[in-house]
Amino acid sequence: MSFVVAIDGPAASGKGTLARRLARHYGFAYLDTGSLYRAVGQAVRDAGSDPADETAALAAARALDINRINEKAIRTREAGEAASLVAVMAPVRAAILDFQRDFAANPPGGQKGAVLDGRDIGTVVCPDANVKLFVTASPEVRAHRRWLELKGSGSAVSEAQVLEDTRERDARDAGRAASPMKQAADAHLLDTTNLSIEAAFGEAVRIIDKSMS
Ligand code: CDP
Ligand code: CDP
Repeated sequence: MSFVVAIDGPAASGKGTLARRLARHYGFAYLDTGSLYRAVGQAVRDAGSDPADETAALAAARALDINRINEKAIRTREAGEAASLVAVMAPVRAAILDFQRDFAANPPGGQKGAVLDGRDIGTVVCPDANVKLFVTASPEVRAHRRWLELKGSGSAVSEAQVLEDTRERDARDAGRAASPMKQAADAHLLDTTNLSIEAAFGEAVRIIDKSMS
């Protein structure tokens, strides 16, 4: 049986950084499920279609090839926005659900466990995960982190604009009918507003080690 760690939380809360470090620490496989939605959203944009067009989004979700995701292209503001638009569509979510569940149950490379991060891992994708974490931080701190990243990759977007994008995306992700972003009842809350990456990692390891013993 694969040991599954489910990590959810809003944009730039630090869940990806944490998930990657945990996967390395425990020798588990890692799946960034947000990259799947970003890739679908970006594919719709590349095809010249509107990310709010369900027919186009569903076609892109069905055609998604995880091995051919362009990491640089999916990290833009526009791809994040498109991701959250296609993510409200139940058929799009259904089209990529089995892939995520299979990754958790049978981690590639025969690893003994998997860490998945996203918005609905603990609630919908892996409701029976061994450990669930809900990572969060204040909108201002998250927007600042994301703005630093975008600036570093050459974007001229203002911090105020990133804060507005962040709030809008949070509201869409938490307010949608299909798999809304939500802390699972049995998830541990990790607020990283005033936590370094190192401190958040230490806290997560403590929680996971306890559940393994
Ligand atoms: O990196 P960041 O936290 O900004 O976002 P992400 O994890 O890459 O996810 C991008 C968008 O995909 C989110 O705003 C959600 O709308 C959607 N998403 C989702 O609906 N369910 C998931 N399991 C993961 C992402
Ligand atoms: O995956 P998610 O969108 O939740 O966030 P991330 O990509 O892990 O983190 C967003 C940015 O915040 C990265 O540049 C991290 O280095 C930074 N970060 C931080 O400064 N302090 C933390 N406790 C966690 C992340």
